[in-house]
Amino acid sequence: MKILAIETSCDETAAAVVEDGRHVLSSVVSSQVDLHAAFGGVVPEVASRAHVDLLTPVVAQALLEAGVDGRELGAIAATIGPGLIGSLLVGVSAAKAYALAWQVPFVGVNHMEAHLHAAFLEEPELLLPTIVLLVSGGHTMLIAMERAGDGTRFPFLYRLLGQTIDDAAGEAFDKVARYLGLGYPGGPAIDRASRKGDPTAIAFPRGLAEEGFDFSFSGVKTSVINYVRKHPDVEVVDVAASFQEAVVDVLVTKARRAAREMGAKALCIGGGVAANSRLRDRVVEVCRVDGLAPFLPTRAMCTDNAAMIGATAWYRLKTEGPTALDVGADPDLRISFVED
Ligand code: KG4
Ligand code: ZN
Repeated sequence: MKILAIETSCDETAAAVVEDGRHVLSSVVSSQVDLHAAFGGVVPEVASRAHVDLLTPVVAQALLEAGVDGRELGAIAATIGPGLIGSLLVGVSAAKAYALAWQVPFVGVNHMEAHLHAAFLEEPELLLPTIVLLVSGGHTMLIAMERAGDGTRFPFLYRLLGQTIDDAAGEAFDKVARYLGLGYPGGPAIDRASRKGDPTAIAFPRGLAEEGFDFSFSGVKTSVINYVRKHPDVEVVDVAASFQEAVVDVLVTKARRAAREMGAKALCIGGGVAANSRLRDRVVEVCRVDGLAPFLPTRAMCTDNAAMIGATAWYRLKTEGPTALDVGADPDLRISFVED
């Protein structure tokens, strides 16, 4: 079954055609970065207006690249949350309209669950249980992904082990980059600057590193600001590299401990921050030392895209059927985690 998937939760307008939840026939991402750069961050109203302009040509290109006619599609999927409400509404309304016009089911997808699945699109051999470190601009979560027991409709169970109590990891990268004058978007800018800097130059705090599975990144952000105020002549690249090292250190330490405690076979990363070079290197290194399988999506699959929406939609459609057309966008949508 071929699914056309649409992603418009933030500032990327994306469409993809995915076959059987696995084969990506096309994945088109139109970034609005240039539109928002002048403001130093995403402006919600500008984002939703740009989605309106970009979505139709992006969908047309995804269908063209996949060599698929609308009538061959088995379903239309769209991100229904979490995200910016105005942006979400554009994708959800368009997906429902295509579904009605082509008389196929509509499937609403949770954006964070799709980030969870992104690694498995490229690595079909699911090794469960796996620890997934989900690090994006809005979320930082440590999740244990397990196979669901017999008789359950959906094949996976998600257990939330910890999450950020203040800033998300990507948010910390973006705020620190802005403070250091490295530009927008901040994560890739810090990643680039860090390559020229010394990660051991400044010992920034590793918030909550040894305690539990929750994260805190507002302390390291404040430390960077205080340090630069006190040492105005410090090399910016050294600050960037030392900050990145502190954040990556905490992420990897906790993910590694979670894998040990949960008896996981693999460690997986997802979300925009999973594109970070230092995080990727450290994850590969600790997996080698601890005997875990590393699941690292390619960088394009880490940042927002519609292929991951199409893959998740296929699982949801197979197990739960279509989403009713009266289900709307939900900016605060959560993943349903098992409780015990
Ligand atoms: O998943 P994503 O594309 O959008 C959200 O769902 O939030 O994540 C965007 C976040 C931004 O904060 C961005 O700065 C960060 O991911 N990011 C990075 C890198 N590439 C993107 N952070 C660190 N290093 C990178 N290379
Ligand atoms: Zn995302």
